[in-house]
Amino acid sequence: MRERGTLPRLFGSLLLVVAAGISSVAAAPERGGPAPARTPVATPLGQVVPAPARVKPGGSPYAITARTRILVDEGPRRDAREVRRIGSYLAGLLRPATGYALPVTDDRGAAGIRLRLGAGDRSLGEEGYRLESGRGGITLTAHKPAGLFHGVQTLRQLLPVSVEKDSRQRGPWTIAGGTITDTPRYAYRGAMLDVSRHFLTPDQVKLYIDQLALYKINKLHLHLSDDQGWRIAIDSWPRLAGYGGSTQVGGGPGGYYTKAQYRDLVSYAASRQLEVIPEIDMPGHTNAALASYAELNCDGVAPPLYTGTSVGFSSLCAPKEITYDFVDDVVRELAALTPGKYLHIGGDEAHSTSHADYVAFMDRAQAAVQKYGKTVVGWHQLTGATPVPGAVAQYWGYDATGAAERAQVAAATRKGTRLILSPADRVYLDMKYDKNTVLGQSWAGYTEVDRSYDWNPATYLAAAGVPEDAVLGVEAPLWTETLATNDQLEVMAFPRLPGVAELGWSPAATHDWDTYKTRLAAQGPRMAALGIDYYRSPLVPWPTE
Ligand code: ACM
Repeated sequence: MRERGTLPRLFGSLLLVVAAGISSVAAAPERGGPAPARTPVATPLGQVVPAPARVKPGGSPYAITARTRILVDEGPRRDAREVRRIGSYLAGLLRPATGYALPVTDDRGAAGIRLRLGAGDRSLGEEGYRLESGRGGITLTAHKPAGLFHGVQTLRQLLPVSVEKDSRQRGPWTIAGGTITDTPRYAYRGAMLDVSRHFLTPDQVKLYIDQLALYKINKLHLHLSDDQGWRIAIDSWPRLAGYGGSTQVGGGPGGYYTKAQYRDLVSYAASRQLEVIPEIDMPGHTNAALASYAELNCDGVAPPLYTGTSVGFSSLCAPKEITYDFVDDVVRELAALTPGKYLHIGGDEAHSTSHADYVAFMDRAQAAVQKYGKTVVGWHQLTGATPVPGAVAQYWGYDATGAAERAQVAAATRKGTRLILSPADRVYLDMKYDKNTVLGQSWAGYTEVDRSYDWNPATYLAAAGVPEDAVLGVEAPLWTETLATNDQLEVMAFPRLPGVAELGWSPAATHDWDTYKTRLAAQGPRMAALGIDYYRSPLVPWPTE
């Protein structure tokens, strides 16, 4: 993270650049408030990331003032609490920088920003929203609370960058007039954190969740176990976390989440409209478990804990029955902690498991997931076994991945397996940007910001025979062999993550690197104001003073 408060002056010049040639509006300074530094220009309605589906600019702008109230029009009773919570979240975002009270009210006579669940707006779906801005106020309409939340993120990006600061800033707080109608391209827009190679505390994960929410990411996949550490308490096998979680890459104390901490993380993510997908990686990537319980090893001998970064050397013992007691217990306890529908069982790089053992193991592990009512997710090697009906495979191949492997994935999609796309040389956020990148790895190649953004999920595996409708969405994994602090996570994730978020959300018709890079550039000062330590890629025209 960067010191807050270093970049507010960039804002005016930036907006003059991005707004050039587009209707510019000036708001009257609020009486009695601090005088504006200069004539403000509101951010054009479409200048957000991810790009909205439909934008109709025009009409008078709205300025948030000391008199603005946040009106929550609660809609169906089951959603009332959630709508109010989103109203409070919005007020919480706006209060520090504006210094306004911004009361959240259900008084329909109030003017200001209205959050409305419209029963008649089914076309907005689970996550879509409409934002109408005019002299009288802002109205956000959605069919479901998630839509209101995503609309709030758009509203936030339409306000001056200084709104992100945590101390009072000069307004005015003007939003251009017009209407945005916005729905996502894909239902699955994920990010993964590897909390195993380096343990990340709940507060570290929450900070990342807040950063993901700004870009409308809606799934957080937690890679909870690997050779170097087991990070979730399992009551029936307590040494998994207590011993298996006691170190990490390079040594050090590691750590794990208690069930209470994990539930709190799930609930925090839900408050930002993210569903947590827990992963226990099996049958490989299991040294932490094998070190914790000798009986899980075929030879009955527990290996030492591991703090290096090799892969492919560990395997659960597929022929032993106790292995499946372990799998059943872990999956049962994890499913009970998981309100979401997915449970990820890994299945990648099982180089120390024979093919026959792998197939037999994955059959039984998938059955356990189904037994506890969850949908199986596995890395795409699952397609080399027998994916159960409804299973989802996460493709992490890259340009060098062989035709046979792609064909195997495609064959599974023809039988109904759906895909999450995480091509390693596009969206693995731990890949170095170029040869000068200090952190990260390069086994899939260097991945600059344009390469990460400039591909089409719908057609990415079309040549191998994967139909467009097999693609559930995209996910950007962040592996942590070389990363431990949020500064380190951020400089690898940003600014590639907003590009993946845009691939997941925005219509294919908006896809264009040249216009995207300009919108991304405008995110620079916002990320800085939020304290996000991002990589200043030379490919992006970041604003300068
Ligand atoms: C992976 O990168 N081994 C899924």
